Amino acid sequence: MSLIPETDRILLGPGPSLTAPRVMRAMAAPTVSHLDPLMIRLLDDVRARLLRVFRAPEGSFALAVSGTGTSGMETTVANLVQDGTRALVVVSGYFGDRLAQMCERYGATVRRLDVEWGNACDPDALRRTLKAAPEDVVAMVHGETSTGVVNPVRELAAIAREHGALTLVDAVTSFGGVPLDVGAWGIDACYSCTQKCLGGPSGLAPVVFGPGALAKRVRCRSFYFDLALLEDYWLRRKYHHTMSSTLVYALDEALAIVEEEGLDARWARHERNHRALVASLAELGLSLLPAEADRLWTLNTVRVPGGVDESAVRAQLLEEFNIEIGAGLGPLAGKIWRVGLMGASSSPRLVVLLRGALEHALAKHGHRVPA
Ligand SMILES: Cc1ncc(COP(=O)(O)O)c(C=O)c1O
Repeated sequence: MSLIPETDRILLGPGPSLTAPRVMRAMAAPTVSHLDPLMIRLLDDVRARLLRVFRAPEGSFALAVSGTGTSGMETTVANLVQDGTRALVVVSGYFGDRLAQMCERYGATVRRLDVEWGNACDPDALRRTLKAAPEDVVAMVHGETSTGVVNPVRELAAIAREHGALTLVDAVTSFGGVPLDVGAWGIDACYSCTQKCLGGPSGLAPVVFGPGALAKRVRCRSFYFDLALLEDYWLRRKYHHTMSSTLVYALDEALAIVEEEGLDARWARHERNHRALVASLAELGLSLLPAEADRLWTLNTVRVPGGVDESAVRAQLLEEFNIEIGAGLGPLAGKIWRVGLMGASSSPRLVVLLRGALEHALAKHGHRVPA
């Protein structure tokens, strides 16, 4: 018996999201080697597309690192942080904490700006913290997937810059789904993944280094994530590792879809479907964790009503309706569901489907839907 799935799971969790059909077809193309002339042209195309989709300033270097979102995190940290680097990390959830741990592993002296889970970082808090003591790097998560909160990166990055720090931004759950402008917002280094708002499979991490970050790079301790060695491959065509052509086809096609839709239209689609979901959930008597202004359109954290077994509802959605939603992490375990509407999974059809399936599952588990 094959263990390979035969039906389409409807992926509405924190990621991966559905892979766009065009991306699936692109992955069926024949394999080429990592230094094939075709591959080189594809890498150049991916690089140019990433610069545009990140809206990176002149003089930036964009690439896709082999690995998932965490490899993007590691690449930015490993090339900007070394022993004694002073790093302030905004920690407003699980992934902010991972970012702080990553900075520590690469030798930084880390100060955490802790924000209560479910809230966004207050720009004044960052201003006060930086006034008290300067930092070399300020790192933050844009869309915090554990809480469904979007941090005000435009304001936070401006404050960091005013205080002379490099800004490092995790855009794993925001890139391609909510407004992000590396150039206009003055972000120095940013990373994401392919399996969320881009509508690809997991396996590559888009990363961009702006001119300020390129000028302040440190000697990288990691071989695999060393920017100088990655530049040798991406720019000077020297072997570094056997990059997967299949994943590069997928990313190039996913970025082509993003550019055909247009970033503004794509952001508007994610906002529209988020609002439709919130309205549908309200009809079922369900509410979201974050305040309205702080909500991340791509990842919705839904409060589990009292008396309802959250894992039983999730299991029923999966078994009966083939729909995946996510559980809460850390202090939010058992208290919330995480519903992702990202990339190809951000569609009105799926919002309607989830509403119907949830209504059914909730009724079965003792939640009375308001009349
Ligand atoms: C905000 C954020 N950062 C980093 C990661 C790590 O990405 P990956 O699981 O692709 O390594 C995730 C994963 O969900 C995430 O949501």
